[in-house]
Amino acid sequence: MSEVANNPNQPKHIAIIMDGNGRWAKKRLLPRFVGHQKGLNAVKRVVSYCSEIGVDALTLFAFSTENWKRPQEEVNKLMSLFLLALQKEVKKLAENNVQLRIIGDRTAFNKEIQENIAKAEALTESNTGLVLTIAANYGGRADIVEAVKLWHKANPDTDVGLLSEESLNRFIALSDLPEPDLLIRTGGEQRISNFLIWQMAYAELYFTDALWPDFGEKEIDKAIDSFSKRERRFGKTSEQIQQC
Ligand code: IPE
Ligand code: IPE
Ligand code: MG
Repeated sequence: MSEVANNPNQPKHIAIIMDGNGRWAKKRLLPRFVGHQKGLNAVKRVVSYCSEIGVDALTLFAFSTENWKRPQEEVNKLMSLFLLALQKEVKKLAENNVQLRIIGDRTAFNKEIQENIAKAEALTESNTGLVLTIAANYGGRADIVEAVKLWHKANPDTDVGLLSEESLNRFIALSDLPEPDLLIRTGGEQRISNFLIWQMAYAELYFTDALWPDFGEKEIDKAIDSFSKRERRFGKTSEQIQQC
């Protein structure tokens, strides 16, 4: 087990923008899809490592609401890979006490994917280990708009002037989990690309040039090490934090 295991400064909820599959493949003169396949191996490594070191929640950005704009062939292959992962990997997750959830608008996926998502969630829902959330057809802005609609549905007679951060937050994805405290983006870009824009208001950001298929235990250790050295002030002064 790694020396970072059970570190009191370890993040509770790691969110990852898994980027760089295409460039990983291009560097090797391989089709982009091979990069996505290798990316799935990295997902397995990272899930099992986060489980092992006792992270409460891991949220992975797998497909954004904007990724539909990619060439149809790539979108089709990503969908096949998503289905394959749901069919082949969920049993192992269940055995490892992982609870799997999917966020994002699943109605855009074909029936077979939707059925497999429902099955996977049902199979793992009472698991008490790592909460693994896959963001698929997810967009942070859509998440906020959906939350406002759900809030209104739940409170049809309430004046919108009474809408508060707390009351809206209840309808935002992942609100039952600790807030993501560490956001990792692989692939060298330093942007959020419409990921958990509400939830990450106070996340520590960690960007690495490592391409997602190369990502693994060592890289997570580096990110956690960087996280654990930072002073999280939440608007206060350094002196106030040190007094606590
Ligand atoms: C991330 O890798 C995977 C998805 C967005 C589905 P990319 O496919 O974006 O890889 P690059 O950025 O082109 O290297
Ligand atoms: C972000 O990666 C989305 C996922 C990792 C699923 P992109 O590769 O789509 O992001 P941009 O287009 O470079 O911002
Ligand atoms: Mg990319």
